[in-house]
Amino acid sequence: MADYWYFQPKFKQRALTFLNDRPQPLKTISYNITERDFINSGTASAEIKLILKRDGLRPEILRRIAIAAYEAEINVTAHTEGGMVKANFYPDFIHIVFSDKGKGIKDIEESMAPGFSTADSVMRELGFGAGLGLPNIKKNSDVLHISSRENKPTCLEIIIFFDKTLYDQR
Ligand SMILES: Nc1ncnc2c1ncn2[C@@H]1O[C@H](COP(=O)(O)OP(=O)(O)OP(=O)(O)O)[C@@H](O)[C@H]1O
Ligand SMILES: [Mg+2]
Repeated sequence: MADYWYFQPKFKQRALTFLNDRPQPLKTISYNITERDFINSGTASAEIKLILKRDGLRPEILRRIAIAAYEAEINVTAHTEGGMVKANFYPDFIHIVFSDKGKGIKDIEESMAPGFSTADSVMRELGFGAGLGLPNIKKNSDVLHISSRENKPTCLEIIIFFDKTLYDQR
């Protein structure tokens, strides 16, 4: 099982503390993601964005979360046998976990390179396949963790910190 980790240096310590303690989130939502359902793919990331927008999150951070979550959701739709996303809401960050049922990633470093894509002709006709999804997720996230291997499920988790506490902590 190969593991890929990226930490935005500024948040590394905070992220490691969270990953070690794994405290209970304030709320959690989860959605199924259906294989090859390009009509509905994007619904989960839109919903996550809407919740945070209603809660008053700053547009710049909202945009980063929306992009990272959308790219990861489309990847589950496009490159796997389906899966699910779980978004864990905390006062000062969001933790989003995508888990799928395969087909897995042979070489995660290679798949992270801008321009690398195994997208088929159907996906390319829909405008996907530039090989920029994973690089974009990394660019917009404070933590990116991908755990995968060929012909096995993939787990991709993202953490994005807010610049202020969003929710009342009573
Ligand atoms: N969850 C996943 N399971 C299996 N393979 C994946 C998964 N996510 C990404 N990949 C592999 O990594 C490659 C690169 O992903 P990336 O999102 O960067 O590009 P893309 O999806 O091919 O194109 P784009 O996102 O630009 O439309 C994919 O082509 C695919 O081979
Ligand atoms: Mg992609």
